[in-house]
Amino acid sequence: MRILLVGGGGREHALAWKLRQSSYCDALFAAPGNAGIAQLADCVPIPPKAIPDLVDFARQNAVDLVVVGPESPLIAGLADALQEANIPCFGPSRAAAQLEGSKAFAKQIMAQVNAPTAPFAVFDDPDAAQAHLRERFLERPCVIKADGEALGKGVFVCETLGDALDAVEFLMVERGLGEAGGRIVIEERLYGREMSLLCLTDGQSALPMPPVRDYKRALEGDRGPNTGGMGCYTPLPDATPELIETALSQIVRPVIRAMAQRGTPYQGVLYAGLMVQESQPYTLEFNCRFGDPETQVLMPLLESDLIELALATVEGKLHEASARFSPRAVVCVVLASGGYPHEYRTGLPIDGLEQVSQLPDVLIFHAGTRAENGRILTAGGRVLNVVGLGDTLSQARENAYRAVEQIRFEGMHYRGDVAQSVL
Ligand code: AMP
Ligand code: GLY
Repeated sequence: MRILLVGGGGREHALAWKLRQSSYCDALFAAPGNAGIAQLADCVPIPPKAIPDLVDFARQNAVDLVVVGPESPLIAGLADALQEANIPCFGPSRAAAQLEGSKAFAKQIMAQVNAPTAPFAVFDDPDAAQAHLRERFLERPCVIKADGEALGKGVFVCETLGDALDAVEFLMVERGLGEAGGRIVIEERLYGREMSLLCLTDGQSALPMPPVRDYKRALEGDRGPNTGGMGCYTPLPDATPELIETALSQIVRPVIRAMAQRGTPYQGVLYAGLMVQESQPYTLEFNCRFGDPETQVLMPLLESDLIELALATVEGKLHEASARFSPRAVVCVVLASGGYPHEYRTGLPIDGLEQVSQLPDVLIFHAGTRAENGRILTAGGRVLNVVGLGDTLSQARENAYRAVEQIRFEGMHYRGDVAQSVL
């Protein structure tokens, strides 16, 4: 089969690595890819949001299956455009991707199926939102979320009423994130441990992957600003089979059923962002795609053929499929550019990649990199994902950090505490 992979981050490098291992894979294209993906696929300089160009490319190159990494093209309707061209797409339709594209829509579906989640209200008017805050959150923390797509910048966890009022001002009055802030969700703040539960679904069945814990804050000890993700690990000692079954039966399966009943069946990866409080999972959010960096720890564990699973998903045959994962442990550490998630420099040479490629139980997935005259240069905020495998989390962690120590670029920063708290 001829596969087109859309995206160019660490998630897509991990997907490319796994797709390449499939006996079904005759050709792999990536749009736009990165320097790591270029070693596995033919990279074409089409941005993920250029939907007509992607459809044209897929048609002209006889692509049999499109695998989509990021959310933006899905929310904008890439799967629908491909379907019109009769090209199978692994990723939900525009209507189904609203579960990530609109926080208000996601909360309404959760409420409709009684999925445990924080109590919430939706506002289109800043005065009404601020009055609600003064009435309900005078002395209680709350969370304010821009309804629309905001590239991970639209969520404000507010300790004080002042912070909350400022967030409403920023989103709704100043339009600091543009259209995304025209409508907001205000919800109660939840406490507990976060967990990413990714499931394959064909619109009916759900196949869960091992739960992953993601480190979102830039600095050690969960300080500093939120980022796209600075590292992650699996397995989670606290993710018991009972907890996963509760999440599936109270959250994932009811939502899949509700989406089908609305006439917008959900196909692809449904990523439930959960907060676990005393063995009870609550839904924080849904994502309509693989997680980044979660995928960088899940693909090395996946023993089943990814193309077979993707085909079963798009053909509605997941009930006949199984997804086997190795019981080993994996730790991913993200190496970021100095300054990330704020301003940072790019074009800096990376040293040490050659040496670490020889290490056993270590995988390197590129994120923001590009090749120039035989050298690999930094080209983004998150630059590399260093993945360590082991029979235990402590071994996996040692393997990851041993490799991290051999890689260098100017300004490089990373968290030294990924998976530390579980050991
Ligand atoms: P979301 O994009 O909705 O997942 O929000 C991003 C991050 O904000 C989550 O991963 C949590 O860390 C945090 N968050 C979102 N909603 C809540 C909530 N109700 N209580 C506490 N933290 C939250
Ligand atoms: N790791 C968080 C995300 O993919 O949204």
